[in-house]
Amino acid sequence: MLKESMLYLARQESIRTFVVGNQATRRMARRFVAGETLEEAIGAAQKLNARHIGVSLDHLGENVADAGKARATADEYVRTLDRIQASGVEANISVKLTALGLDIDKDLCRANLMQVLRRAQEYNAFVRVDMEGSDYTEHTVALVSDLHRQFSNVGTVIQSYLYRSPDDVAQLIDQGVRVRLVKGAYLEDPTLAFPHKADVDAQYVLLMRALLERGVYPAIATHDERIIEEAIRIANAHGVARARFEFQMLYGIRRDLQERLAALGYNVRVYVPYGSQWYPYLTRRMAERPANMIFVMSNTFRK
Ligand code: FDA
Repeated sequence: MLKESMLYLARQESIRTFVVGNQATRRMARRFVAGETLEEAIGAAQKLNARHIGVSLDHLGENVADAGKARATADEYVRTLDRIQASGVEANISVKLTALGLDIDKDLCRANLMQVLRRAQEYNAFVRVDMEGSDYTEHTVALVSDLHRQFSNVGTVIQSYLYRSPDDVAQLIDQGVRVRLVKGAYLEDPTLAFPHKADVDAQYVLLMRALLERGVYPAIATHDERIIEEAIRIANAHGVARARFEFQMLYGIRRDLQERLAALGYNVRVYVPYGSQWYPYLTRRMAERPANMIFVMSNTFRK
């Protein structure tokens, strides 16, 4: 209920204007966002790499309503791939289809994604297509499955809160498409998604087991220690080598756990968002943990 209220409030324009315009909230956003420029993101990646942690760079932006902006996003991702290659950082990229124009025109979005995938293929780099709200799930799974025939370097994300996810996971396993498994961060209707966290967590473990046993290099993306312990237990019990999967976490969240897993020899990758369009991303991080909101607000009003 709290998560729903937080996501609803975040959509109010007056709140958005306040948060984006306020110096203190902007500073606090830096806990979750590496910076506004690509160079700041590369700097954050270098620091994580130094601690044996890989990175996925996300150029923030979503629900673009202008074709020119969608093309500019694809160009920015090509520049990001060039910069990753030139700097030698261990990083791949995460993209959102609505940032590449999905709300405007499916063909435009496909062409933009293909432009990014072609450059990534030249560098043997991996591209993860993030999963957005449930209006986009069907298209995202279909597009990634289709493009995977031509570009083996593309994968996507499955959310354990959706009832449909076992079918999607089974299909993607069959096709050899890499899956990042998450719980899901959007506001969804109970006709489409489990409303109770216990069910979301239970389905997560079910899907994680399938991916660890039969998937191609799955990414177990969670900060939930109980689930991480279960992943390690399943991998050990089924002889799944550490090199065959990775743990993923978000920039600025549970750094202690990221480092602990890396020190134990597990592959760990951190999702590093950067760019000026950080507000929707920040609101999802607030909604996941209302204590973050209290932290931000108390720092804001102390100024
Ligand atoms: P859960 O919410 O149960 O949290 C477990 C513990 O983690 C908490 O008790 C707390 O300690 C810590 N924690 C979790 N969130 C926190 C926060 N915001 N601040 C501080 N501590 C926090 N979603 C999506 O819909 N599409 C996507 O493409 C992605 N991509 C993605 C990539 C990566 C690498 C990660 C880790 C996550 C995503 N997500 C996502 C977000 C995901 O759906 C989910 O909302 C968050 O990961 C939070 O859920 P947990 O699995 O961490 O569990």
